[in-house]
Amino acid sequence: MTRHSTKIRRIALTTGGGDAPGLNAVIRGVVMTAQHHGWECIGIRNGYDGLLDARLRRNGLMPLTPERVSGITNLGGTILGTTNAGNPFKYPVQTAKGLEERDLSGKVLSALERAGVDALVAIGGDGSLRVARRLADKGLRVVGVPKTIDNDLEETVITFGFDSAVSFATDCIDRLHTTAASHQRVMVVEVMGRHAGWIALNCGVSGDAHAILIPEIPYDIGKLAAALLKREREGAQHSIVVAAEGAAPSGGKASTIEKRIGRPERLGGIGERVAGELAVLTGKETRHVVLGHLLRGGAPTTFDRLLSLRFGGAAVRALAEGHSGVMVALDPPRVRYVPLAKATQRMKSVPVGCDTIRTARDLGICFGD
Ligand code: F6P
Repeated sequence: MTRHSTKIRRIALTTGGGDAPGLNAVIRGVVMTAQHHGWECIGIRNGYDGLLDARLRRNGLMPLTPERVSGITNLGGTILGTTNAGNPFKYPVQTAKGLEERDLSGKVLSALERAGVDALVAIGGDGSLRVARRLADKGLRVVGVPKTIDNDLEETVITFGFDSAVSFATDCIDRLHTTAASHQRVMVVEVMGRHAGWIALNCGVSGDAHAILIPEIPYDIGKLAAALLKREREGAQHSIVVAAEGAAPSGGKASTIEKRIGRPERLGGIGERVAGELAVLTGKETRHVVLGHLLRGGAPTTFDRLLSLRFGGAAVRALAEGHSGVMVALDPPRVRYVPLAKATQRMKSVPVGCDTIRTARDLGICFGD
């Protein structure tokens, strides 16, 4: 966390990692607020690829004028493009020996200097914000904006994108209730969230699910099956189980669908696995559905639009006040600035004794423990 006093004339924006509803609203918030300070804005295409990838370089920067960001508040995705494989400190470079990771952060800094950029607004999740922190450590003036549907970032009550993902997932669960009830089935719904259970917990409770599996509470499939059979004995015809993609049985591992060199394993498959096991243990007809990337697409909710616009405005105000190495964070009712180092030091998990879990248990929701 440092202070800068030199005058800003031009700022750059980057969106990195998985997309999330609200990215375009943040971009609009930044550009419209920067205008009041007389600053120009340029966007870097596809994370930092716009500065590093030779195929993009001629076309890697996008001037962001108030006209360009008009009408984008409700638009899903990001007009700048993004990538979750573009860490400039470990940039994949094709060499004679194959793909190698190189530190190209120096190139990012010199390209920004050549483009006359005085400061950067980095919009992203934990990975992108760690990169932002390291660029700030190298002397660049940087403010981060916390994005992720997973809500797994510390120091902010909520990240933008999370509310939209949870709202959509809840809507899907509502729809699954009627088909599951009509067929007297068990439906297992797999949702994203990486190693945190925020999405599963919030949509599961709001959607009146009967069981929720989250990474923070290892489950016992036998106990889950017994809970569903008890429901049946008590007269219930159908059950809805929400499974976070990172949930794992006690003593076991999360389900993965792909191992990637130099990158985290891709999570997925828990829905199918749990549905298969429940069908055997309960004798009930069981189906699974994976919501996956549907949770990332589409328009942001009103909550996310407002939060994103507020975050965008606050990021520019932070720069104008001389801050660097900070992230804007929601601490209701205000948006404050927190050190990027603090926000990225560990993942924000669901506290197992939190009010939402206690409420869920009081409502009779089973966590498989
Ligand atoms: O972090 C957001 C997220 O959507 C996770 O919930 C999910 O595990 C991951 O990204 C999937 O990323 P991708 O399919 O883009 O590699």
